[in-house]
Amino acid sequence: MPGLWTLGIESTAHTLSFGLVDADGNPAPSSSSTVRPDEGGIHPREAADHHKNAASELLQRLFEANGIAADDIGAVAYSQGPGLGPCLRVGAAIARGLASKLETPLIGVNHCVAHIEIGRQQCGCSDPILLYVSGGNTQVIAHLDGRYRVLGETLDIGIGNMLDKFARGQGIPFPGGPVIEKLASEWLDKNPNASLEGLELPFAVRGMDLAFSGVMTAAQRLLDNGAELGAVCWSLQEHSFAACVEIAERALAHTGKSEVLLGGGVACNNRLREMCTLMAEERDATSHAPPRMFCIDNGSMIALLGKIELDHGRTTSYAQSAVDQYLRTDQTPVTWPV
Ligand code: ATP
Ligand code: FE2
Repeated sequence: MPGLWTLGIESTAHTLSFGLVDADGNPAPSSSSTVRPDEGGIHPREAADHHKNAASELLQRLFEANGIAADDIGAVAYSQGPGLGPCLRVGAAIARGLASKLETPLIGVNHCVAHIEIGRQQCGCSDPILLYVSGGNTQVIAHLDGRYRVLGETLDIGIGNMLDKFARGQGIPFPGGPVIEKLASEWLDKNPNASLEGLELPFAVRGMDLAFSGVMTAAQRLLDNGAELGAVCWSLQEHSFAACVEIAERALAHTGKSEVLLGGGVACNNRLREMCTLMAEERDATSHAPPRMFCIDNGSMIALLGKIELDHGRTTSYAQSAVDQYLRTDQTPVTWPV
């Protein structure tokens, strides 16, 4: 009898993660490890080495935590793209090796679409506008004619990369986003009547698109001119999140949809969640965010999308299993009901 569990392998960037879904698509918590460089940003080759070294122990831990053995795996899914080439290739190699050894189907999936599907499953959304905010990606997405279409996106860096880079400039190690959130909320507690006067930053909206590098440089300039770090973190969040929420709101208005769904690592942020909820309430719409362990990169979301695609008849042959660093959200046909 084939194993009942689908294994998911995530390795697009800084995190290697193994996850599982059961025969009904219910996810188990992932087993993950994130590379944290001593200084500077993530080096793709070093991250790939980290993934190679961490893989065997992480997989064993996943099996032990769920009381299963390799024979219980009935399918192997992996992130085929987008992401950093060396990192993607480690995950794909592990997936091919396991699928071949266990004689299971292999399914290469789109990482961005996996963020969407785990969110839809966890939040019970039917047809949302997705605000996908992570390190590398910032996109507003809607389902239309069999694809997840990108209605607006960043023209330069992802919002998470912007937060991480700003933090790095202050000596805060990766990932900087959660530390900025903490500094901003501590500062706000001490300054409940805070105003953006004197803390203005450029607005990131460009039509339905966004651009963040100018915002980051301007935030740095506020610090150079003597502003407090906590105050600048608060202003940076207020400005950059408002820009994302504005294009999500416009997408709701244009499409006539009535749900917003947050996804990606920056969706862990409480202030962003709150801003989305307020915007949705004003429009008689609803706002949803999955549990945080499913916002950050995780193997469970890869397993879920792999299972969904397998159930709809798709597998990946070894000849087609090469990674695609530049795979786009709208390149993947959505063959399952939305
Ligand atoms: P993708 O490949 O989808 O772009 P990613 O590699 O950036 O994903 P994720 O785990 O989805 O990985 O997101 C990581 C990002 O999320 C980092 O930039 C991190 O700073 C940011 N982040 C995590 N928690 C928070 C938070 N509470 N507030 C703001 N940003 C956060
Ligand atoms: Fe991600």
